[in-house]
Amino acid sequence: MTDLTTLLEVGGPVAALGGGAAYARAKHPGLYWSTVGLPISTARLLSSYGSVMEACGLTVAPSRLRMLAVKATTRREVRPVPPRRGIIRPTSTGLRLRLRLAPGQEPADVAASAERLRHAWGVHAVYVSTVKPGVVELRLVGFDVLRQVRMPRKVDAEFLQVPVALREDAMPFVRDYRAVPHQLTLGATLSGKSMYLRHLIAGLAPQPVALVGIDCKRGVELAPFASRLSALATEPEQAAELLPVLVKEMEDRYDLIKARQGIAPDTPAEEITSDIWGLPESERPVPLVLFVDEVAELFLVATRKDEERRDEMVTQLIRLAQLGRAAGIYLEVCGQRFGAELGKGATMLRAQLTGRVCHRVNDEASAKMALGDIAPEAVSAACAIAPERPGLAVAGDTSGGWSRIRTPYLSLSDAAAACRDSAHVVPDVPGLKPFLPEVAIRPVESPAPVAEPRPATG
Ligand SMILES: Nc1ncnc2c1ncn2[C@@H]1O[C@H](COP(=O)(O)OP(=O)(O)O)[C@@H](O)[C@H]1O
Ligand SMILES: [Mg+2]
Repeated sequence: MTDLTTLLEVGGPVAALGGGAAYARAKHPGLYWSTVGLPISTARLLSSYGSVMEACGLTVAPSRLRMLAVKATTRREVRPVPPRRGIIRPTSTGLRLRLRLAPGQEPADVAASAERLRHAWGVHAVYVSTVKPGVVELRLVGFDVLRQVRMPRKVDAEFLQVPVALREDAMPFVRDYRAVPHQLTLGATLSGKSMYLRHLIAGLAPQPVALVGIDCKRGVELAPFASRLSALATEPEQAAELLPVLVKEMEDRYDLIKARQGIAPDTPAEEITSDIWGLPESERPVPLVLFVDEVAELFLVATRKDEERRDEMVTQLIRLAQLGRAAGIYLEVCGQRFGAELGKGATMLRAQLTGRVCHRVNDEASAKMALGDIAPEAVSAACAIAPERPGLAVAGDTSGGWSRIRTPYLSLSDAAAACRDSAHVVPDVPGLKPFLPEVAIRPVESPAPVAEPRPATG
């Protein structure tokens, strides 16, 4: 009887703890990591560091001096030495650790063992990055951070930067317009492209930037943000009028730069190397971001006359992409496919869009359109995205690097509210006045000023 009570007394709490841990692991992986995963992984790392490094072939033979010292002081056999380890720094999603490479090692040696290290220490993934010559940082990620995306609380984002998604190594993916002026976002329908745009618009809304939208799906995606947009085109005909105005705006900005620098007015724009950032702040035009949702809708043609208009629009977009950066005009283009079938010049336009993000696609050819000329292995990663995870994408850059990213969920009403809150920021771009969207009357007006909360007991 006493045995049974003891069993119940000890077994009950243990079973409850085990069940609680399993539940936390499935439902609240962040909480599980901080309470259970982190201590276990740290203990495993500390106790097995030397032997794991040796098993991964990351140790080197000890120096002669060390050999003599060990022999003189102890009788133990002389073990190969692992890379020197810095302190372990826990984070809310994993832990970080710096290693000093031994002579003759390179970061790629450690990166090649990342998968082995992950199994040895029981974490979700291990990423290796170079801090400075001879020092690498191991970033251990405790759980799949892309399952329930939570952006880090503190992200340093400067002007024209938007932390738009989370990378699989738990670092924020920042869309930086000054580093990557133009971007192409591809994906099948319902893959999360518009969500990606929504984040960008909501992120740019409080900044002094002119936002211009072309949404030929009758504005279903961009019209809710009308209060913050400087211009919106919802039909190809409107877009055909808007694009020349943007090109004109760009040319005016080039003229301004030329005038400021005392360059002869007839210098071709292509030869001017400086940009609006060189202008004094009082004269500097506001940066302008052009969002194009569903680029194929813009280029869809029914008649021969439409075809001419389409070719003109492609040419204007190419011009904006080629020369826009210096004038502070940036393109953000979204589409399901972006190939030669969009018409003359489409592939040339694509080549100008440096940043690439590829959501789930239906065929390899579409993934190749986005990532093929950047990193071939990123193409297969994009093809492997499951439909159950909308918002998951592969982001590449021209340096050949790529990573999996996922946007957090942001509801349309929250994004629209962010735009309404920043409606006073809409900069004055005179040329765009005729395209200023009509702001729909809000269906639900917030009630009159909320009464001061009163203490319940008062
Ligand atoms: N990061 C995300 N997390 C959760 N749900 C998402 C995410 N991104 C998109 N979704 C959902 O997927 C659906 C399609 O997204 P959407 O951005 O409209 O796709 P697309 O523009 O590619 O057709 C929407 O219902 C949206 O709520
Ligand atoms: Mg969409």
